[in-house]
Parts: sequence; structure tokens; C-alpha cells
Amino acid sequence: MAPPSIATIQDFRALLAAYRLPRIVLTALELDLFTALAARTCSAERLAQTLDASERGLEILCRNLATCGLLKKRGDVYRNSAFAATQLNANHPHYRGAYLEILKNQWADWSHLTDTVRSGRPVDHEAPETADYRRQFTWAMHHRSVDVAARAAREIDLRQAGSLLDLGGGPGTYAMAFLARHPKLKATVCDRPAALEVAKEIAATHKVRKRLSFLALNFMEEDLPGQYDVVWYSNVLHIYSPDENHVLFRRILSALPPGGRLITQDAFLHDREGLYPEEASLFAVSMLLFTERGNTYSLRDTARWLKEAGYVKIKPIKMKRGTEDWDGGLLEAFRPTRR
Ligand SMILES: C[S@@+](CC[C@H](N)C(=O)[O-])C[C@H]1O[C@@H](n2cnc3c(N)ncnc32)[C@H](O)[C@@H]1O
Repeated sequence: MAPPSIATIQDFRALLAAYRLPRIVLTALELDLFTALAARTCSAERLAQTLDASERGLEILCRNLATCGLLKKRGDVYRNSAFAATQLNANHPHYRGAYLEILKNQWADWSHLTDTVRSGRPVDHEAPETADYRRQFTWAMHHRSVDVAARAAREIDLRQAGSLLDLGGGPGTYAMAFLARHPKLKATVCDRPAALEVAKEIAATHKVRKRLSFLALNFMEEDLPGQYDVVWYSNVLHIYSPDENHVLFRRILSALPPGGRLITQDAFLHDREGLYPEEASLFAVSMLLFTERGNTYSLRDTARWLKEAGYVKIKPIKMKRGTEDWDGGLLEAFRPTRR
């Protein structure tokens, strides 16, 4: 894949102006416009009264929300798209509120990028992590992954496995999706205590809860107790440095029986120069803003670290296009079987 050609000031302006639609959508979220519209049709004038905002502002905002497909326009009235009426509507059971909060905050966080590039430190490096923050983040992870976890569970073959460790599993969304798919499987979610509180709340509403257990542990500092046929390591690799992941891969190996399997899900880079998919390069910027040592890594480097840590049969798992969390984002590796 070649980078886009920026040859004129117009090309350059178009590149920079990409912030406009995201900013419009963020304003709609901040006004809670999609909740106000819910399932009704409404003119900009009536919506302005409901939201206590200007009619002119809402007319221009709604017109643009219609051009990007979040609203439908007919004459002078607007209604939500099917997506906006459910997932962006605070009164709907499919509302993604916790994840939307994180997305909203990113505008302010990303405005600190220049400072972060200068200092190399994350935006809130002095703020200690609180249990409240961890709870909110964990709910956000659930709202982010609930669909994709169900798809992963349909496509990743775990029929041979009796036990699974969801390492850094947060809300346990993946563990529960795997359990729902495999009635004989048992799973353990390992994370920080505040994250596990959320996982327990979600599990309490889930049929699979009897086969799910919880392990509060800092896996960067402590060994993993017990053995598991499969370790699922999803969206954690990018939080840590290559050296930290190297140590962790060795630690995970000791928690696998001979022939046991580690599956890593992450925003892997695929090309020789480490630029694409573009989403994986952009995600590295989030790691710069929010973590001390995180980054995104190439599939090739990650496979090499796994090999150096003693794994064999290291290869990507292919999922149907469009069903994955990340494009080409799954890598499996096995503990060697005894000879
Ligand atoms: C980005 S979330 C990913 C959650 C889930 N695995 C997913 O794919 O949606 C990373 C999770 O790893 C957990 N985590 C990171 N470092 C950890 C550590 N050293 N010990 C325990 N949990 C950790 C975080 O608390 C968080 O829940």
C-alpha cells in the first residue's frame, strides 16, 4: 500500500480538514442529540428547544450529521439512523455509553500530543490510577468489544481446550463469549481488582458464570498460578515495551502445559516498513498519549519474541475480513510438546 500523494496545498488542506466531521459528531455526543431524537422525527427548531441550543447551530449540525449517515433528513425534519437510535441513545439497552465517554475525552487528550511528543510522557503521567477510572475503562472495554468477542468466539477453534486464561481480560467479555460457544470450557479472567469487579457484575447476568473464575494479579510482577490449555492475550501487548512483553511471554509459557496455546490479539503492523495498516500506526499515538512505554508492533517482531521465548508453530490466525477487532490482528503460538 502506498501513502496518499500530498502534492498541492489543496491536498494538504484536505488532509488537515479530516478533523471536521469527527468534531461535528463529538459535539452531537456532547449535546446528547441522539438520545434527544431517540425514535422520533424532529425539526431543528424543536430539537433546539429540547436541547436548549440555537436553531441555527442545530440546523447546520444536523445537516452534516445527515451527510455522514448518522441522521436521516426528509424535508425539514431529521431522525436517527438505526445505529444512532440504539448505540448512541442513552435510553436504549444497546447504548455504548462508557466507550463513548472515552471517545469524547480523546479530543482533549489528543490536543496534548505536541507536549507528549516533546516529553515522551503520557498526558496524565502524574495522576495515580484510581479504582473509579479502572471501573469506567473496563466498562468501556466491554462496550467496545461485546460484538467482536462473539465473532471471535465463532471463528477461533477452541474445541480441544478444557481451560482458558483471559490475561488482562478486563470485563471478561472475551472469556464469556468463548464459554458461551464451548459448553465444556472453563475460563479465568486475570486483571486488576477494580477491573474484576466489573467482570463479576457482567458475569452475574450471564448464563456461563458457573464456569468462570477470577484472578486478581499484576501479571507483570507476579507469576501466573496454575496451568491453562489456552492463554488469550488480547489488547495488552501494545501497553508494554518489547522487553516487558518478552518477559511476559516466558511467564505465560510456564502457565501452559506441553502443547498449550497462546493467542495474542493486537493492532499488528504488517508491512516491511512498519507503517500499515494505518489504524495500527495511529493506535501507536494513543499508546504514546496514554502509556509509559506502549507502542504497536509488527507481526514479524512479535513472532520473533515468541520464538526467542521458546514457543513453536507461530502463525497468524485468519478470520473472515471485516469480522476482526484489528486487520490481521491474531497470532498463535504453542508450547513445545514433550518428546
Ligand atoms: C486494553 S484492556 C484489554 C481488555 C480485553 N483483554 C480486551 O481485549 O478487550 C487491557 C487490560 O489489561 C489489564 N492489565 C494491563 N496490565 C496489567 C497488569 N500488569 N496486571 C493485570 N492486569 C493488567 C488492564 O487492567 C486492562 O483491563
